[in-house]
Amino acid sequence: MENTNKNYTIAIDGGAATGKSVLARGIAKKLNILYLDTGAMYRAAGLYFLDRGLEFNEKNINKHIDNIDVKLEYENGITKVYLNNVEVTDRIRTSKASMGASDVSKFLPVREKLLYLQREMAKGQNVVLEGRDVTTVVFPNATLKIFLTATPDIRAIRRQRDLAKRGEIKDAEIVKEELLRRDLQDTTRKESPLKKAEDAIEIDTTLLTNDDTVDMVIDLLKERVEINA
Ligand code: DC
Repeated sequence: MENTNKNYTIAIDGGAATGKSVLARGIAKKLNILYLDTGAMYRAAGLYFLDRGLEFNEKNINKHIDNIDVKLEYENGITKVYLNNVEVTDRIRTSKASMGASDVSKFLPVREKLLYLQREMAKGQNVVLEGRDVTTVVFPNATLKIFLTATPDIRAIRRQRDLAKRGEIKDAEIVKEELLRRDLQDTTRKESPLKKAEDAIEIDTTLLTNDDTVDMVIDLLKERVEINA
């Protein structure tokens, strides 16, 4: 799957809290292109089940998949997330919603539905997208593929800070445990598991600032396409 010849696609995959969103948002802002947060879509789909107290199993997925409508809208560079036309932008960021997203993402009907939407949204434009399978499944022919890593300790600290900003106070060790549990689930599932694409460039963000990482990726893009940045 290629996004047309004229446009470029920057695809970023990596484990939980490795810095994918901050990087993608920074690139999108600098290049003035679309930022597609695929994780937000899985988070919204997971929330559908959590809100109804439904177990994540095949029967429930098949029964409810057609009733789940996920939309991303953009306002002044901020992504707003809608589940069945109700805004859930903040509600999808809790620890519970993170695990729910990972739980729902194991099921093929969910992946097929969101994959279709992701390709439709990216069609005909320059885009930076991030997730777990964007370099391997969504856009295997992306112009530039990045695989982000960072040590579990720094990831836990970053995530702990994000959660605290939203009022969820949690011990760093517990945050770390949850991140690693989610990574294990995301890398070992049958459908589109998280893995490094052969031609992806690995960047370890442990010691890098956000700005450094953004500049590094834009320099890599410049080696591949002509851009004004
Ligand atoms: O990037 P994130 O933490 O918002 O993603 C939440 C979960 O959604 C992640 O643990 C697995 C799932 N996901 C996925 O399976 N495929 C993607 N492309 C993006 C996210």
